[in-house]
Amino acid sequence: MASLTSAAKLMRALQYDSYGGGAAGLKHVEVPVPTPKSDEVLLKLEATSINPIDWKVQKGILRAIFLPRKFPHIPCTDVAGEVVEVGPQVKDFKVGDKVIAKLGHEYGGGFAEFAVASESLTAVRPPEVSAAEAAGLPIAGLTARDALTQIAGVKLDGSGQQKNILVTAASGGVGHYAVQLAKLGNTHVTATCGARNIELVKGLGADEVLDYKTPEGATLKSPSGKKYDAVINCTTGIPWSTFSPNLTENGKVIDLTPGPSSLWTFAVKKLTFSKKQLVPFFVTIKREGLEYMVQLVKEGKIKTLIDSRFPLSKAEDAWAKSIDGHATGKIIVET
Ligand SMILES: NC(=O)c1ccc[n+]([C@@H]2O[C@H](COP(=O)([O-])OP(=O)(O)OC[C@H]3O[C@@H](n4cnc5c(N)ncnc54)[C@H](OP(=O)(O)O)[C@@H]3O)[C@@H](O)[C@H]2O)c1
Repeated sequence: MASLTSAAKLMRALQYDSYGGGAAGLKHVEVPVPTPKSDEVLLKLEATSINPIDWKVQKGILRAIFLPRKFPHIPCTDVAGEVVEVGPQVKDFKVGDKVIAKLGHEYGGGFAEFAVASESLTAVRPPEVSAAEAAGLPIAGLTARDALTQIAGVKLDGSGQQKNILVTAASGGVGHYAVQLAKLGNTHVTATCGARNIELVKGLGADEVLDYKTPEGATLKSPSGKKYDAVINCTTGIPWSTFSPNLTENGKVIDLTPGPSSLWTFAVKKLTFSKKQLVPFFVTIKREGLEYMVQLVKEGKIKTLIDSRFPLSKAEDAWAKSIDGHATGKIIVET
């Protein structure tokens, strides 16, 4: 395929001009196709997935660390597409390659027809993995993998000691990958979700499932009486006093959405040399992780559960659905 002369072309995109505004703050625009820097590839996007961090940035919760870098901002970072132009220093990709990429949160770019991605955060997507399945993986999949392997100490080849894991919000973007990965690691998985998703979460491999809206579910107590070696906490608002009695002596709660109260608990547990710990966790994405997750999907070892698909022309509806907080799996925007 001939290389696209990016500077000469316009593309469709959705962007916001200021903090706040939710779905109504997104505007359909035509803007120039971005030009890749020397170590970047230009992608014609096929699919983009939404993560809660995308709309939290719009809300302004990361303004202290200057996110987004400037307005207007085209949100979303987890994408799949085809390479249509490469910067002069790019070595590993060529025009026509199908890839998955994680764009930077500073500049975003996923709600558009084209986006530039750093070569170091791009990975080949084999034909067995659809663009939508691949776009779901970067933040949600790697958060699940790295929380399980780096903090909970689970070995995903199943070679480690068997652990008991609790995954909260197991029907969500991170949770549905966490259940599947934890089972690859030969763990016993207890999961929480709403009543409508219990069978689905069992189908992902969970050994026991609690309905979070029932009084028993709210206690997080394992029906078979297991204590948890680690909790992958994909929810917010559950106090330490609910987790603590359900943990083993050295049990850890891995908190993916640390707020003031969990940071306080983290500090107190550290200062008092508590064996039970609360561990705030933020994922860091590298190309190796993208390649690893794509390979698992290719081999049929995990799957991306797709909640819904929206065309770019209706991406604001996808945004509103994510903010609503009831996705089952990943919300995908297709271009
Ligand atoms: N630290 C990091 O690096 C990192 C990375 C990724 C995500 N996160 C954070 O992790 C959290 C989860 O992200 P996500 O992408 O998985 O979100 P998501 O896909 O939007 O989660 C939606 C799901 O959560 C379920 N849910 C909500 N409250 C629940 C509760 N109390 N108990 C059980 N299930 C509940 C919902 O079920 P119902 O529809 O039945 O209510 C729905 O299926 C977000 O706060 C996100 O910002 C952090």
